[in-house]
Amino acid sequence: MILDGKAISAEMREELKARVQALAAKDIKPGLGVLLVGDDPASRSYVTAKEKACEQVGIHSEEIRLAATASREEILGVVHSYNQNPAIHGILVQLPLPDSSMEQDVIASIDPDKDVDGFHPVSIGRMMLGLPTFLPCTPHGILHMLHRSGHAPSKKHVVIAGRSNIVGRPLANLLTLKNELGNATVTLCHTGTTDLAYHTRQADIVIAAAGRPNTVTADMVREGAVVVDVGVNRVEDASRPRGYRLVGDVDYEGLADKVAAITPVPGGVGPMTITMLLFNTVLSAERMGGR
Ligand code: GUN
Repeated sequence: MILDGKAISAEMREELKARVQALAAKDIKPGLGVLLVGDDPASRSYVTAKEKACEQVGIHSEEIRLAATASREEILGVVHSYNQNPAIHGILVQLPLPDSSMEQDVIASIDPDKDVDGFHPVSIGRMMLGLPTFLPCTPHGILHMLHRSGHAPSKKHVVIAGRSNIVGRPLANLLTLKNELGNATVTLCHTGTTDLAYHTRQADIVIAAAGRPNTVTADMVREGAVVVDVGVNRVEDASRPRGYRLVGDVDYEGLADKVAAITPVPGGVGPMTITMLLFNTVLSAERMGGR
C-alpha cells in the first residue's frame, strides 16, 4: 500500500481552506513572509512550492530575496520587518543560508509567535515539554500521515535513521510524547550507529531521514512494517529533461512488495511538510485574531 502524502495533503488543505474562510469572515487573512537568501536551485523550488500552496488555500504570501552575499544585518533587518508587520502571521527563512554560521542567530531573531517552521529555541523547548507551540513541519506532517493512514505510532516501535535538527531529533521527541500523536517507543539511529540493520529489523515503523540514497534496503526491514522515506536526493539522469531525478533514502522498488505501507518520493513526505507550514500559518492567524 502506498502512503499517499499527496492525497492526505489534499484532504488537510481542504480543511485549512474552511478555516481560512472562517477567518475571512472576521476580516483576517493569514499571511506568510518568506525570506530566500542566495540562488540555490533546490531552495528556490521549495520556496516556489510553498508559495503556490499558500495561494491554493487562500493564504497571503510575500517574498523578499537577498543576494548570497547579504550581510547579517540585512538578513536580520528583513526578519525584523516581518516581526513588526501585522499582516504577517508566519515567517519562513528558507534554510540552508549561504553562510550557515548565521543560521542560529537568524532563527533566534524570529518572533516565536510567528515561528511557523518551529525552529526557534523557544518552540523546540515547548515541543520537548509537550506544551502548545508550532511543531516543525516535516516531523509533524509524518505524524499526521501515519495517523490518517491508519498506522498510528502509539505502542509501536519506531526506528529513525538520521539525527538532524530539522527531522530526526524533533521527530524522536514528538513520538515519545504521551499524547494521541505520539506514545511510541523510539530508537534514533545515526552515523555513529554500529549496525543500522539490526535496529531497523526490529521496527514496526522505519523512518529514513539520513539524506543518502539506499540507506534502507529490503533486507533491513521486516515483512509488514511501515516505511516512511524523508529523503530528497538529486541523482544525475541524462534521460530526464532537467538532467536529474529525485530519489529518497530507501530502496522503494525492493521494499514495495514486502511492507504494509511505504511513502513514495516524490509525493510522500514532501507535500505533507508544505501542508504543515500552511497549517501553522493558519493556526498563527487564528491565535493572533483571537487576541
Ligand atoms: N530546509 C529544508 N527543510 C526546511 C524547512 O522545513 N524549512 C525551512 N525554512 N528550510 C528548510
